[in-house]
Amino acid sequence: MEIIRARDYDHMSRQAANILSAQVILHPDSVLGLATGSSPIGTYRQLIKWYEKGDIDFRRVRTVNLDEYVGLAADHPQSYAHFMRVNFFDHINIDLKNTNIPDGTNADDEEECARYNAVIRKLGGVNLQLLGIGPNGHIGFNEPGDCFVKGTHKVELTDATIHANKRFFDSVDDVPRYAYSMGILDIMQAERVVMVASGENKADAVRDAFFGPVTPRVPASILQLHKNFTLVADEAALSKC
Ligand code: GLP
Repeated sequence: MEIIRARDYDHMSRQAANILSAQVILHPDSVLGLATGSSPIGTYRQLIKWYEKGDIDFRRVRTVNLDEYVGLAADHPQSYAHFMRVNFFDHINIDLKNTNIPDGTNADDEEECARYNAVIRKLGGVNLQLLGIGPNGHIGFNEPGDCFVKGTHKVELTDATIHANKRFFDSVDDVPRYAYSMGILDIMQAERVVMVASGENKADAVRDAFFGPVTPRVPASILQLHKNFTLVADEAALSKC
């Protein structure tokens, strides 16, 4: 495990964007695993800037997103499909046909999870997975539990996550209770994993995940066992380590 210490959010974002851009420049048809949330927004912004300068070409890049809320259509302003377009895809030359996100409107969870697992398999897995971390140590929507779940699955969100994510919705009642999420094995099978973590409210999660035991109670802790994992975190997120 490698830790890159960043001064602040902007510095963290540039450091993470450096790693992603190197991946795309060296391997233009890379499969990128992408994340949502406030943590990776700065990374996407930096990549957009470099794209605008002509330094990166996303034409052949393929993507799989980690997760989506069950019940939200792609055009819902809080859906992750919408998030990805607004914060990244609409600003670069990626072919939207090469982007994949679980379909939150598919009420048949077995079918949707099987479909998404097949999408990941067909792409041949993920070359570089970008991750954020929830304040309770979740990655994607893999919530703390008794075991690590391997593949794409339907998750009942914990109260802590509903509370943490309510800032994006009009009220807590509007936060969906379920999500589809890629599993821990999908994430662990990525060739390279990069996590961005910023701010004091991530300090407990970062300490527990990377300086404590590997346990499904802190899902991100499994990344200690990944052969090519980089944590890019700012001083505040590392303040309790
Ligand atoms: C959501 C997403 C995660 C993300 C987490 C943290 O729950 N499913 O992928 O890492 O939020 O979000 P933020 O970066 O806004 O703190």
